[in-house]
Amino acid sequence: MRKITIAEILSLAEYKIRPVITKLPPSIVTNIYSPARKVFIKILTRETRDRRYIPPETESKTLWGINFQSGIFNAAGMFKHGDGYNTVAMQGAGAYLAGTSTGAYRRGNEARGILHPFVPYPLSGSASNWMGLPNEGHYSLAKKLSKIDKIDGCPVGISIAASPELSETAAMKEVLGGLFLYKKAGVDFIELNESCPNVPHGNQYSNTTLDENLINRLEYIGKNFIEKPNRMPPVIVKLSNDTDINLIPSLLDVLTGLGFSGVNFGNTSTEYENYINNIVPGERRLYNYFTSNFGGGLSGKILKKRSLELASYAAEYIESHSQANEFYVIRTGGIESIKDIRQSEEAGITLNQWFTGYFESFAKHGHSIYKHLFSKCN
Ligand SMILES: Cc1cc2nc3c(=O)[nH]c(=O)nc-3n(C[C@H](O)[C@H](O)[C@H](O)COP(=O)(O)O)c2cc1C
Repeated sequence: MRKITIAEILSLAEYKIRPVITKLPPSIVTNIYSPARKVFIKILTRETRDRRYIPPETESKTLWGINFQSGIFNAAGMFKHGDGYNTVAMQGAGAYLAGTSTGAYRRGNEARGILHPFVPYPLSGSASNWMGLPNEGHYSLAKKLSKIDKIDGCPVGISIAASPELSETAAMKEVLGGLFLYKKAGVDFIELNESCPNVPHGNQYSNTTLDENLINRLEYIGKNFIEKPNRMPPVIVKLSNDTDINLIPSLLDVLTGLGFSGVNFGNTSTEYENYINNIVPGERRLYNYFTSNFGGGLSGKILKKRSLELASYAAEYIESHSQANEFYVIRTGGIESIKDIRQSEEAGITLNQWFTGYFESFAKHGHSIYKHLFSKCN
């Protein structure tokens, strides 16, 4: 029998005492969880594994000529500093996604004396965060990713975003520079984060018309990166789970027309009023405290229905319109079980990413997380 690890002990202990901690005054809960989450990730990513779990062959897929050992992997923001590849690759993750990174180092958000505010709503299977894209910048992260010793079946992806403070022109140039840096670093796919609600100007398309700046940025990347003659890594675009469903056909026409390789629905939500009823009454005080003092993005179970709705619609649209390139729909938001993955598959969604549900599941199953997930295969 293998020995239980520090991350497994901490995660299980936290899981057991959570219902008590989250009843403390909301400011104390936020003061505990915001730093503790980061310490936990550091510990987790240092736990390299020598025993590998390989998901059943039926779970593997080859997309854009790249092998994925399964159709589920971590969502962006979990490994902001490019650590933890071995940890998740050996667990059985279908891929590894680093970032989000921006052109230059960003400290991220701080308010009320709390750096990178985060709280879980454990009884509701959800969470709030207001991180503000802290990261070390493209150059440093690309250097780290270039040194990863990859395992076949677990490709490396990078999530990148424009620095929100830059002018549109400067931001586009910065993103382009990042795309080339990561291509040189040997990443297998790139996710363009066009949906962070925790920085100024994030989430620009979630109204009733397509945002002109978003289209300009996509066109710029299409022309200056995707269309280049050398073989470029596939670029997918991550949009918000708050996206107006009526915009999907025109968004997909733009993305497929410009040669993008996929779309991901999606990022966290800022529709606090909409989701309050999905938060159990005992956690509403914490929810109201966090959303009114920090705002931030909502994640977890509360997004399950919406991510399925948006991604299914997108998959249906793609299925019924022939494409010049390989184009896939990815679902993120509330994924926590094999049932969610099967529902995605039935709807024509090719890949799934998880964040909140990953940590819930890690608390129960530790490093056997993917083994447990796929043991419930049939
Ligand atoms: C603490 C935290 C940090 C996140 N950071 C990022 C990020 O840097 N880039 C990004 O695209 N999404 C980020 N996200 C959003 C997740 O990638 C994901 O889209 C969202 O949490 C919904 O998935 P889930 O319901 O499985 O958590 C973050 C989420 C959380 C909870």
